[in-house]
Amino acid sequence: YTLALMKDALQPLEAPLQAATLPQLSIVVPTFNERDNVTVLYRRLDATLKDVAWEVIFVDDNSPDGTSDVVRGLARQDSRVRCIRRIGRRGLSGACIEGILASSAPYAAVIDADLQHDEAQLPKMVALLQSGEADLVVGSRYIEGYKAEGFNKQRAGASAFATEIARRTLKVEIADPMSGFFMIRRDRFEQLAPQLSTQGFKILLDVVATGQGKLRTVEIPYTFGARQHGESKLDSMVALDFLGLVLAKLTNDVISLRFILFATVGALGLLVHLAALFIALEVFRAPFAEAQATGAIVAMTSNFILNNFLTYRDQRLKGFGILRGLLLFYLVCSVGLLANVGVAFSVYDQEPIWWLAGAAGALMGVVWNYAMSGLFVWRK
Ligand code: GDD
Ligand code: MN
Repeated sequence: YTLALMKDALQPLEAPLQAATLPQLSIVVPTFNERDNVTVLYRRLDATLKDVAWEVIFVDDNSPDGTSDVVRGLARQDSRVRCIRRIGRRGLSGACIEGILASSAPYAAVIDADLQHDEAQLPKMVALLQSGEADLVVGSRYIEGYKAEGFNKQRAGASAFATEIARRTLKVEIADPMSGFFMIRRDRFEQLAPQLSTQGFKILLDVVATGQGKLRTVEIPYTFGARQHGESKLDSMVALDFLGLVLAKLTNDVISLRFILFATVGALGLLVHLAALFIALEVFRAPFAEAQATGAIVAMTSNFILNNFLTYRDQRLKGFGILRGLLLFYLVCSVGLLANVGVAFSVYDQEPIWWLAGAAGALMGVVWNYAMSGLFVWRK
């Protein structure tokens, strides 16, 4: 009897429940302060997508302008609208990844909320995936038929430059790996997802670089329009994320941008330490031991602040969390110092070369501080 039951449970469902309403296509829309754009986009999707069962998944990073309230309002009227509201996290790439992973449809698209991408291309993109011609379809601004009305000269130059860097260093072959507009088979995306970076804007570049040789890719031209409401969130920090992504992919994910930023902040900390030591000794006439301790505390504090603003800005600690984080950071760094001295000492014991021992200790210290900060101070 049990066996019969088990057999029953293993039977595939004869017909899917509510087959008519199961989406074939999930359209993922990352949003940050797009209150005035989401309804327009929803209406346009509704008008454009006639022959495919679709849903739209808005992934909002808790926008202060109340975007998620507007999205939920839409969702109450139309079950094809879904809302993912993330709290305490920021980032375009991460939002897109979460949105696609929340889909069960065979195909997923990513499109910006600000109406700069051309939703009228979506039916063509689905058709290319459905026919099996492609695993990934990219809306491209750099092939024939391309127009970028939404770009000023400066932005166009920067985008072209970044595209060149990406194409040369990562051997990416498509014309517009910086595009934020694409559609992919969800099963393929799911295979790549564990290797994708959640930082920054360049999700497509990451997908293409990670899936190299495994994704049949087709590019179709579209016109990058002007933004309707609100403003762009692309800033110089996003450029930094781009370099980090290139570096991470080049080193097979061994060196991350976060580590480089952390180490750079650490090196700056040494200068801060020396400056504080000098001031304590010369200006305040403090005894050396006290001056040295002051230097260490000043340097750790400034490192903490810089890391909170730069290295971990997507997980920035706020309010009371800052104090707690700072105290934990002191603790992490103190143990890191012991590890540093310990390693340097044992290297020196084997091979009395001062700079080798010193460098080994410093490396141990920074790796320790980095690993432990990620686990305890800016943990996810
Ligand atoms: N959830 C979430 N979190 N969404 C975000 C975030 C974030 O931190 N930052 C931006 N977005 C959303 C915006 O609300 C918008 O819907 C979309 O991501 C694109 O952001 P924009 O700020 O409008 O970027 P852009 O127009 O300068 O850049 C776009 O075009 C580039 C091509 O030139 C993006 O699509 C880029 O990915 C693309 O490279
Ligand atoms: Mn935009």
